[in-house]
Amino acid sequence: MQKKNKYSAVLQELFEELLEEENLEAALAGSLDILAKALKSEAGVIWLLDKEQSRLMPMFHIGAIDLSNFSVELGNTVESFVTKTGESILMSTDAQDDRWTGTLLDENGIKVTTGVCVPLNNLHEVVGCLQIVNKKDGSDYSEDEMKLCQRLAAMTALTIEEKGLKVSAGEKKEVLISLRGVTKEFPSGDGKIQVLKGIDLDIYKGEFLVILGESGCGKSTLVNIIGGMDNLTDGTLLVDGKDYSHPTDRQLTEYRREYMGFVFQSYNLMPNLTAQENVQFIADIAQEPMSAEEAIEKVGLSERAGNYPAALSGGQQQRVSIARAIVKRPKIIFADEPTAALDYQTSIEVLSVFEEIVKSRGTTVVMITHNPEIAKMANRVVKLKGGLVHSVKLNLQPVDATDLVW
Ligand SMILES: Nc1ncnc2c1ncn2[C@@H]1O[C@H](COP(=O)(O)OP(=O)(O)O)[C@@H](O)[C@H]1O
Ligand SMILES: [Mg+2]
Repeated sequence: MQKKNKYSAVLQELFEELLEEENLEAALAGSLDILAKALKSEAGVIWLLDKEQSRLMPMFHIGAIDLSNFSVELGNTVESFVTKTGESILMSTDAQDDRWTGTLLDENGIKVTTGVCVPLNNLHEVVGCLQIVNKKDGSDYSEDEMKLCQRLAAMTALTIEEKGLKVSAGEKKEVLISLRGVTKEFPSGDGKIQVLKGIDLDIYKGEFLVILGESGCGKSTLVNIIGGMDNLTDGTLLVDGKDYSHPTDRQLTEYRREYMGFVFQSYNLMPNLTAQENVQFIADIAQEPMSAEEAIEKVGLSERAGNYPAALSGGQQQRVSIARAIVKRPKIIFADEPTAALDYQTSIEVLSVFEEIVKSRGTTVVMITHNPEIAKMANRVVKLKGGLVHSVKLNLQPVDATDLVW
């Protein structure tokens, strides 16, 4: 009886998430998150079928592994079986099931011992499947829990049908930055604290990646490491295939100069230089910069180019700092809470500039925020929790900056 109550509460929570969250991707991600937490699962994936290519792609996954660049050919895997037949599969510790071996989770270092995989049944067809694996306490999933998964899968499929979501496995994305097992310790009192506990993450060329997570979870620490402003303790960092895990000072300088643009919450403009001069100053030391005028124009500030920072609003100052980041044509721009000090309207203006940069130049943008609404703009959202990657979500239909509301 108690069990039943527990699940009806979860179901209620799932309904609310799916009904109240208007953004489909956010709703699906939120509901899988609720399910995985309720069933204490190590990992979970919502797979969607690309019919044309006969491939399943992970639209959202939970767990400390990054599956974003993987898709599964409809073959013999458990995901394929469920999607092809529409049957659910429950695997328990004593009834090992061959169909689970060779699953992507397995390949990526999660040894699957127990799991549930259920179809996303649309009115006419199976559009994918929902999978959760490995209870953290080592116990088996029950039939009741499988039913709970089926209910969520049914709601998910309905929502997908209603919104007409289509997926395409597309081409394999080109990796720009690759992190494996990255840890970071800081000295603390007599000992050390480990802030990053083994991050596995790839960042792709031309993507808009948002890193989400509560204050203090390690977002800035991670970006400082990727941006060459801090050293990692353990693990590897590859940039364009080159190893930057333990760079020399010269490599670091070159790396920051060639690859990176930074935008922070505080604008860090030089008060005694005009907007244009603040940008020119960086253009002068870059290798193949665009003109300062062009950078200023791209952020929509041509008319204020001659103003000193003190004469500009917060949003305008932030746009100058974005111009300063893009003027050297970096491959990647890191933005750490760039709108945290701005009001709503000004934030939207600044976010629109980032949107434009990604669209028009194919620059990779990695933006840190604790505002889940901003995450809807991204191509991909990585959530950090307790020093690990908690989940990765693909946004098939990123929302325009001007449509964000908070
Ligand atoms: N230089 C440092 N020395 C010691 N502890 C640090 C240092 N930098 C960050 N931390 C600690 O690491 C944790 C994560 O910090 P941070 O990456 O800034 O979090 P976030 O950006 O997600 O808010 C915090 O508990 C913070 O106090
Ligand atoms: Mg921070």
